[in-house]
Amino acid sequence: MHIVEKAEEMRGQCRAWRLSGKRLGLVPTMGALHEGHLSLLRAAALECDVVAASLFVNPLQFGPTEDLARYPRDFEGDCAKFESEGVQLLFAPPVQEMYAGPNLTFVTVEGMSDRLCGRSRPGHFRGVTTVVSKLFHIVEPDAAFFGQKDAAQAAIIRRMVRDLNFAVQIVVCPIVREPDGVAMSSRNAYLDPEQRIAARVLYRALMPAQAALRRGERQAAALIAEACAVVSQESRARLDYLEIVDPDTLEPVNDVSGGALLAIASFIGTTRLIDNIVIPPEKNT
Ligand code: PAJ
Repeated sequence: MHIVEKAEEMRGQCRAWRLSGKRLGLVPTMGALHEGHLSLLRAAALECDVVAASLFVNPLQFGPTEDLARYPRDFEGDCAKFESEGVQLLFAPPVQEMYAGPNLTFVTVEGMSDRLCGRSRPGHFRGVTTVVSKLFHIVEPDAAFFGQKDAAQAAIIRRMVRDLNFAVQIVVCPIVREPDGVAMSSRNAYLDPEQRIAARVLYRALMPAQAALRRGERQAAALIAEACAVVSQESRARLDYLEIVDPDTLEPVNDVSGGALLAIASFIGTTRLIDNIVIPPEKNT
């Protein structure tokens, strides 16, 4: 695996591959790799001839009081994982390489970037779409792989690609979970053993809503009430949001018959965790 720090070198390498007719896949990450990240690398390896990954803890998507300084970092361990999943090229730029001086140009998907996580994390999605645009311009991938775990992020990136005519196919891969149901996340490392048990509440809250769906419930308010009842029983959880939205626009929906996204975010201690389930559209809608 070749590790590249310079954007121009990365651009040259990627372009050479594409010119030789190879289908190039990109998996953007902030490192601290777990099985969720690895599932994206495997999907990319299956669908593409060559796989590039990026490892960049993007300061632009962290708020001033958020965890940028203590975000988990394990460069050596991550490199070994990237390599064993067949990544040929790793783009790991220093902050200076991505943002030389103050950044004045931003990409924002208006009307979506302030929904779900965007409401409690102002500027977060603007930081994500700006850095992902930069990565797309540098790498020019044929396909880029993202996780359904960050459902709002995936929807916003899909919309950005559509609105700005990026020539990249966005592939969204299913959530990878721990054996107890907790969605894998680099931030799970912040949890102490008690908090780690409490973190189960996010997934457990989604289950009764899913059961109600199977019983034929279609009203978003009723499904949300089922889920809220579970969260309120966990004293270590402080709910940030529990919403049912259109999976493409992230606007709230009242009736889920046409398909929806049930998304939850909750603080466990000071750690903010997220999870979601996709509600498929009914066959006759
Ligand atoms: P990061 O949190 O490192 O996640 C990188 C990718 O892994 C994202 O697409 C995320 O959705 C996916 N992922 C994380 N946990 C997952 C899980 N349990 N199952 C499946 N996929 C999972 O998301 C980011 O980085 C950044 O915002 C980034 C897109 C790299 C831009 O900076």
